[in-house]
Amino acid sequence: MTALTDMADLSIEDGIAIITIDNPPVNALSQGVRQGIKDGVAQCLADDSVNAIVLICAGRTFIAGADITEFGGPPKEPGLHPTLADMENSSKPIIAAIHGTALGGGLETALVCNYRVCDAGARFGLPEVNLGLLPGAGGTQRLPRMVGPEKALQMVTSGAQIGADEALREGLVDEIVANDLRAGAIAFARKVLTEKRPLTKIRDREDKLIAARENPELFDKVRKSIARKTRGFLAPEYNIRCIEAAVNLPFEEGVKEERKLFMELMTGSQSAAQQYFFFAERQAAKIPDVPADTPEIPINKVGVIGAGTMGGGISMNMANVGIPVIMVETQQEALDHGLGVIRKNYENTASKGRISAQDVKDRCGLISGSLDLSELADCDLIIEAVFENMELKREIFKKLDEIAKPGAILASNTSALNINEIAAVTSRPEAVIGLHFFSPANVMKLLEIVRGDKSGKDVIKTCMAFAKRIKKTAVLVGVCPGFVGNRILAKRQAQANQLILEGALPHEVDKVLFEFGLPMGPFQMSDLAGLDIGWNKETSKGETIRDVLCEADRRGQKTGTGFYDYDKNRVPSPSPVVEKLILEFSEKTGHQRREISEDEILERCLYPMINEGAKILDEGIAIRASDVDVTWVYGYGWPVYRGGPMHYGDSLGLDKVVATLRKYHEMTGNADFEPAPLMVRLAEEGRGFKDL
Ligand code: 3HC
Ligand code: NAI
Repeated sequence: MTALTDMADLSIEDGIAIITIDNPPVNALSQGVRQGIKDGVAQCLADDSVNAIVLICAGRTFIAGADITEFGGPPKEPGLHPTLADMENSSKPIIAAIHGTALGGGLETALVCNYRVCDAGARFGLPEVNLGLLPGAGGTQRLPRMVGPEKALQMVTSGAQIGADEALREGLVDEIVANDLRAGAIAFARKVLTEKRPLTKIRDREDKLIAARENPELFDKVRKSIARKTRGFLAPEYNIRCIEAAVNLPFEEGVKEERKLFMELMTGSQSAAQQYFFFAERQAAKIPDVPADTPEIPINKVGVIGAGTMGGGISMNMANVGIPVIMVETQQEALDHGLGVIRKNYENTASKGRISAQDVKDRCGLISGSLDLSELADCDLIIEAVFENMELKREIFKKLDEIAKPGAILASNTSALNINEIAAVTSRPEAVIGLHFFSPANVMKLLEIVRGDKSGKDVIKTCMAFAKRIKKTAVLVGVCPGFVGNRILAKRQAQANQLILEGALPHEVDKVLFEFGLPMGPFQMSDLAGLDIGWNKETSKGETIRDVLCEADRRGQKTGTGFYDYDKNRVPSPSPVVEKLILEFSEKTGHQRREISEDEILERCLYPMINEGAKILDEGIAIRASDVDVTWVYGYGWPVYRGGPMHYGDSLGLDKVVATLRKYHEMTGNADFEPAPLMVRLAEEGRGFKDL
């Protein structure tokens, strides 16, 4: 065996050369890999003893794509294009041997080989769209030639992967190797040689493109079908244009178009934000003071207290991954209702074909109910999701302390209460932690894990790993009112409320934030959650617009009216009644209404969020700025193409954010506009949150 570079080596066995890539953890196409492939192919071509070449990877996967850490830096020779061109032009057959995930540039590398074999677990995809990109090394031109434009469109616009069986059916691979991939690939290479199979090149194929040339509506159909999901994103449309080019242009022209559009995306702000977010998400899993060898507590059975909105959704998460869960309520009626809602949710999903009838049965079968808290005695993790009331929660945790087995984790789903105060009523505060799910808990990807002063490291480690098991992205935060997500949300809501007193109307505020890319504005969100959360009819004195609306029985979507009027399909329309109530309230509270620009709405809603994020960082409530961003993207639908509030602040320039905050501070006197000392310092040093 000869080393080609420190990431690739070459061995020759009876006329078959094997180039092995070894660049852990995912064999990304770093410079050393490209150099290794290029040199390896050149050596094989120059060596008369070599008749065919197998390209295979060591470790857990075939090449999973370009090396994202190299993006944005100076180009490192050799580039991917010349490397792939050498492969495609090889006069000796090249066979890709694929295991794990052949993604992005990895799949593009496989597509310039003459043949592809894989093991049964291999997966294939072009996920560049998730990085705000498109496959820039010929993938958009070769994939439709292999699998047809329709399938290619679906793959490049969603980034979804396909498995080995589908790849074989679609013609993407030539053979699935049953046992040893390396031996199987070598045997396949020999077969190619003995059968004198041609050196086919995907680029020369046209057969699967012809039908699409006669069916140009195909592209608009796809555009329409993904429009809602991809609102605001550039990359999906660019990917579609590349496949259109593959169908309508000669190969070389198509490649040129692909490269042009790739460069546009690569140099744009959306891809920068999405690449940033790729690493932000992975960083969030790393907890500096919890060493990797910290033991984990096995979680085999979960208890959930409260079968309401959150308890039900939380329980579904467990059942979805096969973990038995028991829900405890105080009344049979509430329990039956909770279990019924879960069943209905699963049946709805099944009716859309997303799970089978058997799945519904299996998942419901994993969820049991009880009215007796002591039935939680054998649970490894107990999650409390009762009303947001400190006394009630403390009472429950006192009981849990008596009931739960030693070593069990006692978690609260509180959205704002102090975990330390809850932990203090138990004799085992190290076992207590916050697990803050987001509504709907079976859908939203975020899990805010709230670390109390005494939460054990094993408990933290277990919860972080457990989050991954139930397919959530976890962010570890400290104790403060509202934690990270809701604390920042409160600042935005305060400004939104203020803006409607000063002159804007709810739908005007919502429109600006919707157009910014958020799924909905603050008033639509309030209507959805219910305006009466935390509101009390007996004590309400009409001190806020919210009080006024609740007093008028406009309590949000559930009552058919709130800030908006809703039709029977829950489609909102601005309400003249609300407008009148707002105008009266403005006048009563001494506000001189004025025209408010869209820029002002945006800045006043978003900049205090960045400011609060800076305070949260300074207080050590979040470990890093990117954790705040992960919280907002996965918990509140902040558009990932803008990275998150902290990345957005950095992209604006913190000096600009500070100056604008000062302007509004002067104008309103509101302390939320007083720039956080951390942000002022960073701005003065010309740095950003990313530099912390
Ligand atoms: N470049 C650089 N680093 C990468 C990487 C890449 N393409 N893909 C993964 N990594 C790193 C991760 O940052 C992580 O690092 P860390 O351990 O220091 O946090 C490590 O590899 C392991 O990654 P995961 O934690 O994500 O491991 P999983 O096993 O959960 O997932 C994976 C593996 C499915 C390969 C997943 O990492 C992934 O989806 N990677 C990105 C794939 C991708 O987007 N490829 C396209 C790249 S763009 C491209 O190819 C352009 C081309 O068209 C020109
Ligand atoms: P909910 O009112 O829908 O459900 C609460 C359930 O707890 C009710 O079914 C009630 O019967 C039950 N319950 C009350 N006392 C109980 C007891 N002693 N033993 C067993 N069950 C009892 O409330 P929701 O919305 O599910 O909220 C629950 C918790 O989750 C709260 O702490 C809330 O702040 C938090 N949360 C709520 C979110 C939301 O959007 N609704 C989001 C994130 C957290």
